[in-house]
Amino acid sequence: MRLVVTGGLGFIGSNFVRMVLAERPDWTVTNLDLVTYAGNPANLSDLAADRRYRFVKGDIGEPGDLARAFEGGADAVVHFAAESHVDRSILSAEPFVRTNVLGTMRVLEAARAQGRCRVVHVSTDEVYGALGPDDPPFTETTPLNPTSPYAASKAAADHLALAFARTHGQDVVITRCSNNYGPYQFPEKLIPLMITNAIEGKRLPVYGDGRQVRDWIHVADHCAGVLATLEKGRAGEVYNFGARSERYNLDIVSRIVAMLGVRPELVEHVADRPAHDRRYAMDAARAERELGWCPARTFEQGLADTVRWYVEHETWWRAVKDGSYRDFYRQWYEERGS
Ligand code: NAD
Ligand code: DAU
Repeated sequence: MRLVVTGGLGFIGSNFVRMVLAERPDWTVTNLDLVTYAGNPANLSDLAADRRYRFVKGDIGEPGDLARAFEGGADAVVHFAAESHVDRSILSAEPFVRTNVLGTMRVLEAARAQGRCRVVHVSTDEVYGALGPDDPPFTETTPLNPTSPYAASKAAADHLALAFARTHGQDVVITRCSNNYGPYQFPEKLIPLMITNAIEGKRLPVYGDGRQVRDWIHVADHCAGVLATLEKGRAGEVYNFGARSERYNLDIVSRIVAMLGVRPELVEHVADRPAHDRRYAMDAARAERELGWCPARTFEQGLADTVRWYVEHETWWRAVKDGSYRDFYRQWYEERGS
C-alpha cells in the first residue's frame, strides 16, 4: 500500500500516520501538509528516520503540490487536511472554504488522475447540525444541516466527495466522527485548552452555561475507524464514528479541575459561541456491523491518559502556546520539505 495522507502533521493525522506505520509494516506513507498554525512537525519527529515515511510540505489547494505528493503513484489517500476550529471559522470563513472545499476538490481530482486510488475523506458529525436533548443520535441518513462556517465547509466537501463517486464512479468513502481528544491536540480545543490552562493556573473559559453536549471519542479509536474504513469500507458509503460518550462541557472541565487538583474558582463562564450547537451524538452501528470496529477506551480511562500525557509533555504544549514551535521547526521543515 502506497498511502498519501493529507494533514498528517495535525492532531488526528499525526496519530493516524504513527498508527499505520506501526501496524502495517509493508506500507509507505507520504504526508502532504502545509504546516499551518495547526501543523506541528514535532508531532511526528519520532518518524524522521523511518524510510517508509516521506514528508511533502505543500497545499492541498495547489495541484502542483498534490502532484509532488502523488509522485511515484498512490493506492489510496486519507484526507485529513482542513481548517478545523469552529471559533476561527466564525472570525473568518475564507480559509475554511479555500482548504476544506476547494482543497478537497483538488484532492479528489488528484486521486482520480491516478486511476485506481481510493479516497477516504475524513469528515465530522458537525455536518448534521445540532440535536435536541431527546433526539436520537445522528445516523448516516440524517440530512445535513450545518450551523457554523466550519461545518458548512465540511458539508460542502462531503457533497463534492459523494458527487465525484456518483459522477465519475470514483472510489470514495466518507467517515464522520464526533469530538476527538488525546495526545497532540492543539490547545485551542476544549480538552487540551482546559488541561494546559489549569496547569498554568489560568482561567478556564466555559462558553455560556456549559451545558452543551459532545460525544467524545479517543483519537486512537477514531484512527482505528479510519483505517478500517480504508481497508473494508464500501465505495460511495458514509460511516459514522462515535463512542457513546455524551458529556456536558462543564462536567468535563470539572473533572479536569479535580484530576489536576486546581482551584474550582478558575472556571469562568464567558460569552457563548454564536449559534452554538447544543448537542451532538453519533450512531456508529453501521461501522460496528460492517467494519467490525468498536471503540476500545472508555471516556474516563481516555481522559485520565490524556491528562497524564499533557502533564508529561509540557515542553510540547508550552512551545505551541508561546508560538516558539514555529521558529524552532522552521529549519526542520525547510530541510525536509521537498
Ligand atoms: P488539525 O487542525 O489539528 O490539523 C489539520 C492539519 O491540516 C494541520 O497539520 C495543517 O497544517 C494541515 N492543513 C491545513 N490546511 C492545509 C492545506 N491547505 N494543505 C495541506 N495541509 C493543510 O485538525 P484535526 O483536529 O486533526 O482534524 C483532522 C480532520 O478530522 C479534519 O478534516 C477535521 O474536520 C476532521 N475531524 C476532526 C475532529 C476533531 O474532534 N478534531 C472530529 C471529526 C473530524
Ligand atoms: O464534533 C467534531 C468536531 O469537534 C470537529 O469536527 C472539529 O474539528 C473540532 O474542533 C470539534 O468541534 P467543537 O466546536 O465541538 O470543539 P471545541 O473543542 O472547539 O469545543 C468543544 C465544546 O466546548 C463546544 O461546545 C465549545 C466548548 N468550549 C470550547 C472552547 C475552546 C468552551 O466552552 N470553551 C472553550 O474555550
